[in-house]
Amino acid sequence: MSDKFLIKGLNNKKILSGKIRVNGAKNAILKAIASSVLFEDGFKMTNIPAIEDVKRMFEIVGKLGVKVEKTGGENYSIDTKKIKGTDLDREIAERLRASIVLTGPLLARFGKVSFPVPGGCVIGARAIDFFIEGFEKMGASIEFKNNRYLIKAKGKKLKGMEMFLKAPSVTVTETFMMAGILAEGKTILKNTAQEPEIKHLADFLISCGAKIKGAGTTQIEITGGELLKGKNKIYKAIPDRIETGSFLLLGSLCADNLEITNCDPDNVGILISILKDAGVPLEINKSSIKIKNNSKIKNKEFKSVNIKTKEYPGFPTDLQAPMIIFLTQATGESLVFETIFEGRLNYVEDLVRMGADIRMLDPHRVIVKGPSTLRGRNMESPDLRGGLAFIIASIIAKGESIIENAYFVDRGYEKIEKRLRGIGVDISRISND
Ligand code: EPU
Repeated sequence: MSDKFLIKGLNNKKILSGKIRVNGAKNAILKAIASSVLFEDGFKMTNIPAIEDVKRMFEIVGKLGVKVEKTGGENYSIDTKKIKGTDLDREIAERLRASIVLTGPLLARFGKVSFPVPGGCVIGARAIDFFIEGFEKMGASIEFKNNRYLIKAKGKKLKGMEMFLKAPSVTVTETFMMAGILAEGKTILKNTAQEPEIKHLADFLISCGAKIKGAGTTQIEITGGELLKGKNKIYKAIPDRIETGSFLLLGSLCADNLEITNCDPDNVGILISILKDAGVPLEINKSSIKIKNNSKIKNKEFKSVNIKTKEYPGFPTDLQAPMIIFLTQATGESLVFETIFEGRLNYVEDLVRMGADIRMLDPHRVIVKGPSTLRGRNMESPDLRGGLAFIIASIIAKGESIIENAYFVDRGYEKIEKRLRGIGVDISRISND
């Protein structure tokens, strides 16, 4: 059984203060780890938080023969000289959706890969049809046997291809951007996702010899070739924009003065603009954001706002849950439209039990009416982003809450209780060991 969190609510007082540092970005790091199988020797990684998803990703490449060594603090050394397998471990792949991005690089480098239907957070259908289409376009054959996909390159190498993505999927963009690096000829991807993690991955791979143009835009061109050997190759993770946004929302609700450090405000542009509009006193610096003298403003004075989740630079689906907590405290009605995943609003039932006034219109849309007083409860983390939203809700609530299934939160946020205690939150972990 997983640990749980015990939280004593602040009953709407804005008293948190101090500094909270943002860690390296989970969804960037997982892809950089996947890219390791493209390399003949390896590279170094830095700014890597000890979160469960990163541990699982290291484990899954470890099972393929990649040697991962912690060299101290948040630094790792990755040695890919002895890769011996191309079959993704069933147990890990079924739990970690990000493992699917390994398929492109493995197929490109070794001409074959096998993997089970990937899992991850239960937030929607999460199909893999675009992946299959891309593999076929690169000249691979597809078989489905014993609940596993077996993909084989027909020639010695994958062929470059042109693909128009039917939706700008993050992992599909990353998978084929990486596959294109070792393919023959040119790969042109259209309607690609523009999330900052994609350009960041491309920049790292370009520094290692890859020929990629257009990452971060809606069209990416990759010219097949080889990656550099020997050079001192270093991957440094960008700050996590979802962690940044979650701390911003928490701070807006219950901090007086709070500084969010080591972040990139540009990558949470839409949230900053919405919060400023709602009336949150923010000061934006190059790599930090300050919430200043916030206790002077009553939450009741925050204005409601309609939110529609969208691909970057639109409002991130990964911040939808903490945003809803904010909206329960703003005055007026807000319509929240989750356009990316259909299972990502189910957790609102628990918020209603806490006292929130939220009406579900359909699986994609809810109306939040605020402000309302939330009361502490016992709850279970529904997924990693929902779990953090429950922590925020419990912090502003009246009374005590217990949040079961801390593992989900640990998947994406390192030692969250310790970091939140550092800014004044009364939170502890109850271990089940
Ligand atoms: N889609 C298909 N077919 C496919 C692939 C995707 O129909 O073959 C659809 C999905 O069902 C979804 C849409 O395309 O409706 C977009 O999903 P996308 O593929 O972009 O999501 P993802 O790549 O699986 C990543 C993040 C998610 C984040 C989304 C959206 C990783 C490992 N995961 O998922 O992060 O919510 O992009 O930004 O990068 C999280 O960190 O908690 C998380 C769920």
